[in-house]
Amino acid sequence: MLSQEENELLTRVGAGTRMGDLMRQYWIPVVCSSEVEAGGRVKRVKILGEDLIVYRAPNGTPGMIGEYCPHRLASMYFGRNEVSGMRCVYHGWKFGHDGQCIDMPNVPPEDDFKDKVRHPAYPCAEHGGVIWAYMGPADLPPGLPELEWATVPESQRFVSKFYQECNYIQGLEGGIDPSHISFLHAVVDADDASLVQELDRAEAGFGFTAGLEKAPHLEVADTDYGVLLGARRHADPGMYYWRITHFHMPFYTMPPTETKPDPLRHLHIWVPVDDERVINWCVSWHPSRDITDDERQAFESGMSIHIMDYAPATSEAYGDIRPRAERRNDYLIDWEVHRRQKLLGVPGVGLQDKTITESQHPQHRMVERLGRSDLGIIRVRRCLLDAAVALREQGTPPKGIDPASYRIRPASVVLPHEVEWTEGAKEHLVVH
Ligand code: FES
Ligand SMILES: [Fe+2]
Repeated sequence: MLSQEENELLTRVGAGTRMGDLMRQYWIPVVCSSEVEAGGRVKRVKILGEDLIVYRAPNGTPGMIGEYCPHRLASMYFGRNEVSGMRCVYHGWKFGHDGQCIDMPNVPPEDDFKDKVRHPAYPCAEHGGVIWAYMGPADLPPGLPELEWATVPESQRFVSKFYQECNYIQGLEGGIDPSHISFLHAVVDADDASLVQELDRAEAGFGFTAGLEKAPHLEVADTDYGVLLGARRHADPGMYYWRITHFHMPFYTMPPTETKPDPLRHLHIWVPVDDERVINWCVSWHPSRDITDDERQAFESGMSIHIMDYAPATSEAYGDIRPRAERRNDYLIDWEVHRRQKLLGVPGVGLQDKTITESQHPQHRMVERLGRSDLGIIRVRRCLLDAAVALREQGTPPKGIDPASYRIRPASVVLPHEVEWTEGAKEHLVVH
């Protein structure tokens, strides 16, 4: 449970807010590299409440500037992507990649007005097939995050993203909530083996969730990049099964690996669009082998964490990554399946998560009743709140800015009872 003030602090991310300032200390993924062509059309995006356009200059360099021209606020979406900058088509003002106005052809040059006009512009960089932007203090961009998936060959990763209509923290908290898999993604009757099998054929994962204890013992540990969350269940005599999730500041979650040989790793990046919407970046990767055709097909089918069934595209910000299944069509739920087979009759794990997190009340964290199962959520909120306050009040640099701190992997391990989980799992949790 949060106070009203903490709730506001946690959920408001616009310019000048404390959480918004905190998030602006980190590199933020904007679009995939393939989405903008050199000298080609620009794309609208919205990040941390700011309307922006992202583009690729004729020489191939990516850039991101405010959508609305500082003259009389025409949209730069229709701007001209020229050598050395973007030109507004209303009166021809041109802005360099750093936002400085460099041409003002409708104003007498002796006015020197162009030198006084600056437009929001943010440094961009490419990394792992993604364009990233840094929206923080101009002199402070840290190194790019050394995420393992961003450094392996393209054939070893699968990246998708979709637009989600809830505050970033609602989506993110689904990623640090280890007990929900036994409910939200489970079958109505876990003892009905034929039902589990039948569903497993259509949507992998039900057999797995069916065998799990529903109330795992949770432990959390602070790290120098965020929070580590261990969900402990009983295994063979004398052993515990630990499913371990990472939270990396300020908006990364890595769910535990699946218990099968040679599993893929998965990660979400919850990038706030504004206070009511979030982009859910989903990344699956393998450290040393290609993603197989079967795995790729499973991702594309929408039965995993990836949602790729989009509504017809529009040119609005994220108009091309809005899932077809949404609140207004009950997320394409099959009410008969809901009654007879699955706890939530919505197709696919990712869509089940989206459905339920969008259904949560957007603001009333003051009346929640958090229990032991919510230990991770409590600790992650505290981590974010403390960092935002410390940055504003003492100027303390937040955790997780160090590029090397991203060299982490999630894991699931079986350990003897007497072994401390953070020690026993250590080697599985870092990229060597
Ligand atoms: S509105 Fe952009 S140049 Fe006038
Ligand atoms: Fe989930």
